[in-house]
Amino acid sequence: MLILGIETSCDETGVALYDTDKGLLAQKLHSQIDMHRAYGGVVPELASRDHIKRLLPLTRAVLQEANRTIEQVDQIAYTQGPGLGGALLVGTSVAAGMGAALNKPIVGIHHLEGHLLSPLLAASRPHFPFVALLVSGGHTQLMRVEAVGRYELLGETVDDAAGEAFDKTASLLGLGYPGGPALSKLALTGNPERFKLPRPMLKSRDLDFSFSGLKTAVLTLVNQFDPAHVPRADIAAAFQAAIVDVLVSKSLAALDTTGLNHLVVAGGVGANQQLRAVLQKQTSKRGATVHFPPLDLCTDNGAMIAFAAALRLEAGMRVLSGEAQGFSIRPRWDLNLYGQHAV
Ligand code: KG4
Ligand code: ZN
Repeated sequence: MLILGIETSCDETGVALYDTDKGLLAQKLHSQIDMHRAYGGVVPELASRDHIKRLLPLTRAVLQEANRTIEQVDQIAYTQGPGLGGALLVGTSVAAGMGAALNKPIVGIHHLEGHLLSPLLAASRPHFPFVALLVSGGHTQLMRVEAVGRYELLGETVDDAAGEAFDKTASLLGLGYPGGPALSKLALTGNPERFKLPRPMLKSRDLDFSFSGLKTAVLTLVNQFDPAHVPRADIAAAFQAAIVDVLVSKSLAALDTTGLNHLVVAGGVGANQQLRAVLQKQTSKRGATVHFPPLDLCTDNGAMIAFAAALRLEAGMRVLSGEAQGFSIRPRWDLNLYGQHAV
């Protein structure tokens, strides 16, 4: 079974071709980061227009690289939500159009399910059930994952997402957009001990997070210095240490609460090397395991969408035909309400 995966929920156009027997055949990505950088963040209207320009050429390039034709595709999977409405509409309408024209089934995938299941694309697959730490630009959640389609929310951020905190802090330090990768690079050269930043909700006894206060603490710290002499590397290192500390503590607490032994990390912040190193160390200390998606699949991509569809198919879940599905997008969509049959 050959599945075409389409991702257009935010600022990356991703297309991939996944074969349920042979695995990932090809994938292509166009990042809009350079286009949005001038504005310091994603401009939704520009994002939609760029997806329109990129999606079909990327699809052709993926098919060509995999040496397949569009007629050979058995199913078209696309990100149905959550995300930017206009951006989602591009992937959704292209998928629906292709489905109707070629008489192929189309399947709407939850973006976070794509992230959540992407570590299963790695050579060593985590086993169900596991705890998933979803850390992206828009979400920070701990989930109990029983099986494909069975997700239980254990805790989440009450304000900013972890990626958002990285981006906003990076912006305070003049590092531009998106800030996560730039901030973590700068943190490598800093001393994480020089400043002690708060660890919000570390002792809250639940599995929720809060990151907006951390950003304010950084602002207060930055304002103590002459603008020309802000110790940016030390502040970046202190910020990263604080956020990693909280993410790791809550992930370990989630393993305790659920009695599970496997942790899976997904989403853009999962690319953070410090987070990876500390989680690796702390989980092995307690005889648990931690799994990360391959680095290039941490951030948004089409492969995770095609792959999630493949796993849903394998699990015998319902797929609607293009005509029946129409053009429905879900810009706001809870993963734990997604359920086993919600397509
Ligand atoms: O999953 P993703 O590509 O998009 C969403 O679905 O939101 O995540 C993007 C987020 C951004 O906030 C970006 O700054 C952050 O992931 N990110 C990182 C790193 N790479 C990407 N944060 C910290 N360290 C990184 N190395
Ligand atoms: Zn994402």
